[in-house]
Amino acid sequence: MSSHPENRFRRLWSAPAARGLLTAAGIAVVVAGLGWLGYAWNASRLPDTYDVMDYGRLDYGGGAVPAGHHGHPGGHAISVATLRGPQAGKPDKTFTLTAKTAKVRLASGARVDALTFNGQTPGPELRVRQGDLVQVILRNKDVEEGVSIHWHGVDVPNGEDGVSGVTQDAVLPGGRHVYRFRVEQAGTFWYHTHQDAAEEVERGLFGPLVIEPRRGLPHGTQDLALIAHDFEGIEAINSSDRVEHRVVAAGTPVRLRLINSDNTAQRLTLAGTSFRVVAIDGTDLNRPTPLKGVWLRLAGGGRYDVAFTMPEKPVEISIPETEAALALSPDGKGDLPAASPGKDFDPARYGAPAATPFDASSHFDRNFRFDIGRKPGFLDGRPGYQWTVNGGIYPDVPVFVVQRGDLVRVSISNHTSAVHPMHLHGHHVLVLSRNGAAMSGSPWWADTLDIAPGEHYEVAFRADNPGLWMDHCHNLRHAAAGLTMHVAYAGVTTPFRVGSTAHNRPE
Ligand code: C2O
Ligand code: CU
Repeated sequence: MSSHPENRFRRLWSAPAARGLLTAAGIAVVVAGLGWLGYAWNASRLPDTYDVMDYGRLDYGGGAVPAGHHGHPGGHAISVATLRGPQAGKPDKTFTLTAKTAKVRLASGARVDALTFNGQTPGPELRVRQGDLVQVILRNKDVEEGVSIHWHGVDVPNGEDGVSGVTQDAVLPGGRHVYRFRVEQAGTFWYHTHQDAAEEVERGLFGPLVIEPRRGLPHGTQDLALIAHDFEGIEAINSSDRVEHRVVAAGTPVRLRLINSDNTAQRLTLAGTSFRVVAIDGTDLNRPTPLKGVWLRLAGGGRYDVAFTMPEKPVEISIPETEAALALSPDGKGDLPAASPGKDFDPARYGAPAATPFDASSHFDRNFRFDIGRKPGFLDGRPGYQWTVNGGIYPDVPVFVVQRGDLVRVSISNHTSAVHPMHLHGHHVLVLSRNGAAMSGSPWWADTLDIAPGEHYEVAFRADNPGLWMDHCHNLRHAAAGLTMHVAYAGVTTPFRVGSTAHNRPE
């Protein structure tokens, strides 16, 4: 054979019949490609209503497959509707929160077209005592899309978790829903709507929830909850976008409960005194030491409690590069101390180690992988560069199946260039390691953990609160764009449905 393959190819190419064939093949490839795109588009579309448990890949974390569990086990199925708090008994504290639209004025005079609880944002501070039976009556006056309330960081029974379409139906205008739960934790929490959360939380449907310890606060404590929030691009502390002054006598014990309701991390500085970080995400730290000139970087949804004794001179807590600040001083005025730039506070090496119910050397019943990535594809029919969990685009994400009593380890890796504040409902996780390094300070229990680009965390929790629990990014825009999945206890089902016909859109 004298002809070279290349020449043969040229000859083919020049033959009109072959050219026609090639054109046909090209068209076939394009058609097949379009067909695939059409298929991918169509396959990504979610039905008008669906059960969140009908989707996702069941992932048992290498543990035993619970008997009879196929997503919808028959026999002894438990509905989330039965996993409620105590329905009988006189509540120790009752609150009514009415969701309504309102124009809110910030301290600067700026007006915000807000969604509010009781006409204000943040909503009223709910202050209760550890052990209290709390009852909250939620009403919706005129928030068209509906509302719900999630108790962020409070490990309530699943039926009180406030996730529309999973644990309840959204409360539509004119409607009402009653939450009842006993609070066993003490610390700083917050509440927010979990219906259309990305939009509604941003617009103001949130507030602080403080659970004082059973024994009460040290006598005379000035105890303040401060929520950092971005209102239409204006950063504020408790809706004040200016310096707010407060009189606090020298010698007073002060506890500031810092809450970040934003999608992204927020830095706060505390100038004029040394201080201790005494709690993270509603859990006290062991033997916190005094800090100075350290910046507090709060994850979106996260909380830090700081404590100090009021000095003779003013103290200022502020959000750098904004005008939002709170100034405390014995006379209500005085020159404000300048915040010096510092390093970010690092919980991984702060305080002293203490015994924990389990640790990195424990035997884990289940080991899950949670890889956050990105790829081009369709999300509910919309093309884009989508978030992925373990390679899949929502709803093709894992469902972590656990059984009551399991000790569970989750390895979270962030392969994207964005920060993701990961939030697990209904449980607190113990941080075991970060980027392979063990923790060297106080036990660090979190419910909202910032995972920076390239970071890798190992966390663990005890599966002790049966239900269907959201596990999602608290950058709520990311959650709405698919960065959300569930931890499901085997045998638990939901009668509620997500989707437009059901008016339930938790994200
Ligand atoms: Cu603070 Cu699922 O949310
Ligand atoms: Cu995210």
